[in-house]
Amino acid sequence: MNFEIFNPQQGAPDPSKALEMFPQLVSFYHALGNTPLKEVPGPAGGARILAKMESTNPFGSVKDRTAFGMFCDAVNRHDFNQGPLKLLDASGGNMGRALAMLGNLCDIPVHLVIPDSSPDTLVNTLREANAELTLVDKQHFLLGMIARAQEIKRQDPSWMLLAQHLNLANVAVHQHQTGQEILRQLAGAKAGGWVASVGTGGTLSGVYAALVSENPSLKVQGTTPKEMPFATFSPPDGRGKYAGAGGMGFGFRQPFITRMTREEVPFCHVGLEEALSAMYEFYQLTGIRIGGSSAANWKSAYQLARSLGPDERVITMFADAGSDSDREKGEVFYSRLGPVHA
Ligand SMILES: Cc1ncc(COP(=O)(O)O)c(C=O)c1O
Repeated sequence: MNFEIFNPQQGAPDPSKALEMFPQLVSFYHALGNTPLKEVPGPAGGARILAKMESTNPFGSVKDRTAFGMFCDAVNRHDFNQGPLKLLDASGGNMGRALAMLGNLCDIPVHLVIPDSSPDTLVNTLREANAELTLVDKQHFLLGMIARAQEIKRQDPSWMLLAQHLNLANVAVHQHQTGQEILRQLAGAKAGGWVASVGTGGTLSGVYAALVSENPSLKVQGTTPKEMPFATFSPPDGRGKYAGAGGMGFGFRQPFITRMTREEVPFCHVGLEEALSAMYEFYQLTGIRIGGSSAANWKSAYQLARSLGPDERVITMFADAGSDSDREKGEVFYSRLGPVHA
């Protein structure tokens, strides 16, 4: 473990210094978070499902929260007398986009290591936001991206490596902000279950810490792609999977998840076709656009909700709105796989 980026947090990182140094962040900051907690279709006779709708964040995903948290933490830790702040991380998606946008807004250089399979739309957005990009072979997936980011840091120590998989600001944001928001929105009603897709595990572990403080018997369930499940010993093979989540391969476990509870966290595995089908189905049912990890969480939450009574509530995370092209692809899979909501 790299202790340089292991940064214990008392609460979510204090944004005061960042807002004072970069007043252009103020409107972003005011638009961040306080996302709706919305009831979504759940199983007849089972628990109700409430989803945190994160696409209303300024850059469109839950990662706006953690990018801003790690950004503020970096500003707080950086010695500006030694030189400008320059941010580096490995991210294939929403985190990279949010960091690039924040860097561009504040004229802070951002270097991102991304897989070479990243869609052109993402690459163009990152380039337009002036991010420096290093593309790595998608076969190596997360561990390969992290290793490359570490190498860049070794070659030029002036980059601050954020290391979202180890950066405790990531978990702290979810424990002290996302989780506290959910508790306020529940207004005293009990959360019986918590379900989230695991990329870094920051969302699953941070919100869990907040919710379990109100209900010690809270059930927790992770969601990862069937093609690359949590803790799989298989090496990454570049197969398609729903975006934003996945095991690391080679038996590695996301550090935030390993020490979360005394017992193992159970996982629901959702294949790419199932996730796209559920994206399409959810839009047909509700008129609301949700992304692949949200659709996978919906399916996962549905499974947990079936095992709980109608007085219970399962909370889950809808991290982004996904793309229309993925939703359209989902129609074919839906006609073959059938509904989640029966
Ligand atoms: C769409 C989407 N869902 C879920 C996640 C997983 O979040 P976490 O890294 O907190 O586990 C991510 C992370 O990038 C994401 O982009």
